[in-house]
Amino acid sequence: MSLTIALVLFSLCNFSLATNEAYALLRWKTSLDKQSQSSLSSWVGTNPCNGWIGIGCSNSTKNRESVVTSIRLSNSSLKGTLDDLDTWSLTNLESLNLSSNSLSGIIPQTIGTLTSVKLLDLSSNQLTGLIPSSIGNLTNLHYLYLDNNTLSGSIPFELGRARDLIDLKISKNLLTGTIPFSFKNFSRIGRIDVNDNNIFGSIPDYFANYTHLEWLDLGRNNFSGVIPTELGKRTAFVQFKLFMNNLIGPIPKDMNLTKMEVFAVSENMLYGHLPHNICASGRLTQVCACNNRFSGPIPKSLKNCSSLFRVRLQKNQLTGNISDDFGIYQELDFMNLSYNKLYGEVSSNWGFCPKLTSLHMSNNNLSGRISGELGRATRLSELYLSSNHLVGEIPKSFERLSSLMKLYLDDNALSGTIPSELGSLYNLEVLNLAKNSFTGPIEERLGECLKLRSLDLSMNRFEGVIPVHISVLDKLEFLNLSVNNLIGRLPPQLGDLKTLETMNISHNNFTGSIPSRFIEMLSLTVVDVSFNQLEGPLPKMRAFEEAPMEALRNNKRLCGNNTGLDCPTEVTNQDKESKIVKVMLVILLPSLGCMVLLFVIILGIFFYLHKKKPNDGKRPEEIESNLFTIWSYDGKMAYENIIDALDDFDSKHIVGVGGYGTVYKAELLSKVYAVKKFHAPEDEKMHDLKSFEAEIRALTAIRHQNIVKLYGFCLHPRHSFLVYEFLVGGSLRMVLSDMKQAIDFDWKKRLMVVKGIANALSYMHHDCSQPIIHRDLSSSNVLLDSDWVAHVSDFGTARVLKDDSSNWTSFAGTIGYVAPELAYTMEVSEKCDVYSFGVLTLEVIMGKHPGDMLTSSLDMKGTSLIEILDQRLPSPVEEVAEQLELLVEVAFACLKISPHSRPSMREVTLGLSL
Ligand SMILES: *[C@@H]1O[C@H](CO)[C@@H](O)[C@H](O)[C@H]1NC(C)=O
Ligand SMILES: *[C@@H]1O[C@H](CO)[C@@H](O)[C@H](O)[C@H]1NC(C)=O
Ligand SMILES: *[C@@H]1O[C@H](CO)[C@@H](O)[C@H](O)[C@H]1NC(C)=O
Ligand SMILES: *[C@@H]1O[C@H](CO)[C@@H](O)[C@H](O)[C@H]1NC(C)=O
Ligand SMILES: *[C@@H]1O[C@H](CO)[C@@H](O)[C@H](O)[C@H]1NC(C)=O
Ligand SMILES: *[C@@H]1O[C@H](CO)[C@@H](O)[C@H](O)[C@H]1NC(C)=O
Ligand SMILES: *[C@@H]1O[C@H](CO)[C@@H](O)[C@H](O)[C@H]1NC(C)=O
Repeated sequence: MSLTIALVLFSLCNFSLATNEAYALLRWKTSLDKQSQSSLSSWVGTNPCNGWIGIGCSNSTKNRESVVTSIRLSNSSLKGTLDDLDTWSLTNLESLNLSSNSLSGIIPQTIGTLTSVKLLDLSSNQLTGLIPSSIGNLTNLHYLYLDNNTLSGSIPFELGRARDLIDLKISKNLLTGTIPFSFKNFSRIGRIDVNDNNIFGSIPDYFANYTHLEWLDLGRNNFSGVIPTELGKRTAFVQFKLFMNNLIGPIPKDMNLTKMEVFAVSENMLYGHLPHNICASGRLTQVCACNNRFSGPIPKSLKNCSSLFRVRLQKNQLTGNISDDFGIYQELDFMNLSYNKLYGEVSSNWGFCPKLTSLHMSNNNLSGRISGELGRATRLSELYLSSNHLVGEIPKSFERLSSLMKLYLDDNALSGTIPSELGSLYNLEVLNLAKNSFTGPIEERLGECLKLRSLDLSMNRFEGVIPVHISVLDKLEFLNLSVNNLIGRLPPQLGDLKTLETMNISHNNFTGSIPSRFIEMLSLTVVDVSFNQLEGPLPKMRAFEEAPMEALRNNKRLCGNNTGLDCPTEVTNQDKESKIVKVMLVILLPSLGCMVLLFVIILGIFFYLHKKKPNDGKRPEEIESNLFTIWSYDGKMAYENIIDALDDFDSKHIVGVGGYGTVYKAELLSKVYAVKKFHAPEDEKMHDLKSFEAEIRALTAIRHQNIVKLYGFCLHPRHSFLVYEFLVGGSLRMVLSDMKQAIDFDWKKRLMVVKGIANALSYMHHDCSQPIIHRDLSSSNVLLDSDWVAHVSDFGTARVLKDDSSNWTSFAGTIGYVAPELAYTMEVSEKCDVYSFGVLTLEVIMGKHPGDMLTSSLDMKGTSLIEILDQRLPSPVEEVAEQLELLVEVAFACLKISPHSRPSMREVTLGLSL
């Protein structure tokens, strides 16, 4: 309305240039969404040069009138399209910057009328469609930035008409085709950045004629053929990035390297030598040439290249003596030389690189001792020296490497004992000393490396017994002590290794029986105890009972169903009752540790509780005696303590309200717990209480790093609740919906969380004697701890807690996560969880529930990563992006309509660990 009035007013007035421009700008403003309009509230009246935000003017040379020459509205939260931008009226515009907004739709052909434009920046929006061919009419264009959109099609030939182009950035789009021949016309071009598109063909020869080209980024495309021999002879590049293409052949000889800062040609099929004077500029920070077929020596000029920050030369055929080839670098962060043919020593130089965090030199021909000076590199977090010919001892000075997380020294000729100083490496997660000649006992102080996940001491000459100290490593997943000279009995305390998945103690001289406490290793799946002197019964757990013959053979007298020997029966009484007991043992014992029949039993109870009428004569006082608790100490006391700690469930202790329960935070005996209270069953009679108790007890015994620990359970007529481990990080849903937390929750952490969830599901589906189905997986019941590790909550309890009792068969899932087959069948299988996992994975990647995407498009395969990534995070780096892509692929497989075509969680975890 006001616009039409304004229009009438304009037509009455003397038509000036400025009012024309004003009209064009106001028309565009009204096409934007409400919020954008309010941020352009200064755009009123008829004179844009009079304080309109983002508008710049200057006096026209012709009639000395003020005209609009620039629009600078970068990062202004504008939402809308460019369709209504009347470019005909803005012919004096020299600069149009609308970058980092939420503009969508296409770039209109009319953009070609902005003939005065020198700078056009539409980067970081959501623009789609083609780059319009009319862009070639912008013959004054110097700077063109269209990067970080979803533009498709090929680069228009007409762009070559903008001969004066200096800077061209069209990276991070979906462009395809080849570089148009018209690019030959550019005479001033300084940067060409087409990174991350799908452009193919060869690198044009005429690029070599660009005398001002300093930045060339063709990375992450599909370029093939050789690098033009003349490229870089006339001009000196500052950044030269050709990584991740299909280029073949050598690096051009005599490249002018006097300005080089970033040289990245990784992941091609390039061969020949690297330029020997690669650091001629003295400003080189990054050299990435990994995964090619380069041979010959390490470039000479790297030795004194003090600017180096990251060097990736792994997986080539480089030769030479690394003790001579490298110097001391003040800025160096990352050095990877693995998988080459390098020789020489791990010299003291590396110890004097104060910022070094990763040093990879595996699979070379290194020899000599590891210099003790390496201990000075106190920021080192990864040291990979595997598969070389190193000798001597592990330097005691390693105790200073307090940041070290991964130490790989396997497959060398190292000797001596494990220095007790390694116990100081409290951040160590992986220690691999396999295939060396270490002797002496297993160092007890390794028990102080509490973050150890993997300990491999196999194929050495370690002697003595397994120190009980190992049993405190409560994060240990992999333990290999095989092929040593270890003796003595196996310490029963090893049963405390609740997270241990693989245990290989084969080829030693262990004696005695395998402690029955080993059944407490709840995660154990792979064992090998072969070639020892062990005897007696196998622990009653799957890992042993289903172990292949090879994993048990060549012992003294191991008995059990796989060893060929029956265990002698202790009870000789042959009457019926003892037979039944035996059968019961066979059935029940293997299920300890896992929840087994929990479902069936919970179902039974629930059915029973809810079908029976509530008022069949009993009074509350009688009900009181049916207090039922499971707790590691006196049940009744725990119940009362919790009621006390929560001031009888006072609302001030509430930390969350879920679909079927309220969560409280309880501080009890100076520990913090989460208490989930749900409606008490109306009936007091506990059907099959004993077995229910047994199974809940088993559930409380589950320890898996990605499953929320259940401490106890109280079923009481007044207050019934579950007591869980309290996790400070809150739920995944909360984190994703909070701007600040979502930003902290970076891609690496997100990958880790998804893997954690997959591990938890895989464990419950496949590593228990009967699969346990979660049934209600959603972002609300994935909780995070302070290290961003995911813990899945409410496993298998969905059914019990659902307080809508009208239809007990109704599925307890959360809308938006429930597999489609549940709409027409009640068949709950693991594959329902797999579906929910797929939804959850997309949610983590997108930062929000995928919503309509799940139902709207059947062929979600075509969805590209770039379209769905959580926009609040910076785009992921190369390796992470690859992993995310894999994840999206897996997620889509999990979302298949037919449950049978979805992968199992085991397949998912195997796929993700690639
Ligand atoms: C335009 O010209 C007017 C007078 O002719 C002068 O006052 C004003 O400062 C000039 N503006 C610019 C941006 O040069
Ligand atoms: C571009 O220029 C050509 C020739 O000058 C003209 O025919 C065409 O209409 C122009 N396109 C646009 C969109 O301005
Ligand atoms: C790409 O654009 C998005 C918004 O569309 C922005 O959040 C992100 O930071 C941009 N990425 C880069 C590398 O500029
Ligand atoms: C580069 O420029 C030279 C001289 O101007 C010319 O002879 C040559 O053909 C050009 N090379 C290419 C590939 O266009
Ligand atoms: C290398 O490039 C720089 C800057 O472009 C130039 O000054 C120098 O002369 C070139 N060197 C050679 C040998 O061409
Ligand atoms: C294993 O120990 C037994 C005695 O405990 C000894 O007789 C035997 O020689 C040892 N075997 C090896 C291979 O060390
Ligand atoms: C070993 O015995 C257990 C329990 O009796 C049984 O479940 C399992 O299938 C047996 N394994 C083999 C390989 O016979």
